[in-house]
Amino acid sequence: MTADIIDGKAFAAGLRARVAELVPAFQAAAGRVPGLAVVLVGEDPASAVYVRSKGKQTRECGMESFEHKLPAETTQEALIALVDQLNADPAVDGILVQLPLPKHIDEQAVLLRINPDKDVDGFHPVNAGRLATGLHGFVPCTPLGCLMLLEDRLGDLTGLDAVVIGRSNIVGKPMAALLTRASATVTIVHSRTRNLPHYLKHADIVVAAVGRAHFVKGEWLKPGATVIDVGINRTDAGLVGDVDFDSAASVAGAITPVPGGVGPMTIACLLRNTLVAAHRNAG
Ligand code: GUN
Repeated sequence: MTADIIDGKAFAAGLRARVAELVPAFQAAAGRVPGLAVVLVGEDPASAVYVRSKGKQTRECGMESFEHKLPAETTQEALIALVDQLNADPAVDGILVQLPLPKHIDEQAVLLRINPDKDVDGFHPVNAGRLATGLHGFVPCTPLGCLMLLEDRLGDLTGLDAVVIGRSNIVGKPMAALLTRASATVTIVHSRTRNLPHYLKHADIVVAAVGRAHFVKGEWLKPGATVIDVGINRTDAGLVGDVDFDSAASVAGAITPVPGGVGPMTIACLLRNTLVAAHRNAG
């Protein structure tokens, strides 16, 4: 192996510590601490684990966590009524509705109802539009975390060739927008792209978010590339990324591991977005 390992766990711990350090100043000025409401519908075990971690890390940063656990049979109307209540609550700066929602609920209808200025997930189309047009808004936490790791490793990204694998609204599209804003030259490839290795051969930066275990092979990479693996795939061998780590690590200059790479950055960025929301909503 030649690649450096990018330690997302350590970087995320540092980011959480910086957020925690800034909470007392907000509290002194606003007379309250920032508040994050997290809504979980149903009993999906992976979602329950995420929601527990979000609550714990929110409290550890000195912020208030409002947790709403609703049964799987909750109606869309009841969920939207809860979103309305959280939109109107001045103690709630950020609202996160954990996805996926049960099949009988229209996810888009619920996300559209969240006040864009409390949308710390950055999933509302108003925030997607703000990101696309260079306005201040909320950026989805996973791509924001990836950008922070890339800038920490590479500094200025101007002129670098970046390939984003995956075109989801949650990762691929906002990641491409962030890299474009950082003046990288960005290509988006996806499951229907012909000749994927052709695009990867020249990429200084690769962000893999396709949701397929070990999809990206080391021999496709440019030697010295920085590789960010967003994948979390459950296999018989445990959690693995979208990148074939062993072959990639012998070619790349730096690579994130799974677990311990991008994953911890997502919640840390959520806490950062909540503090930003608190300042904007109080100011
Ligand atoms: N489910 C998995 N990751 C996320 C996330 O970042 N936000 C929300 N709302 N749901 C998720």
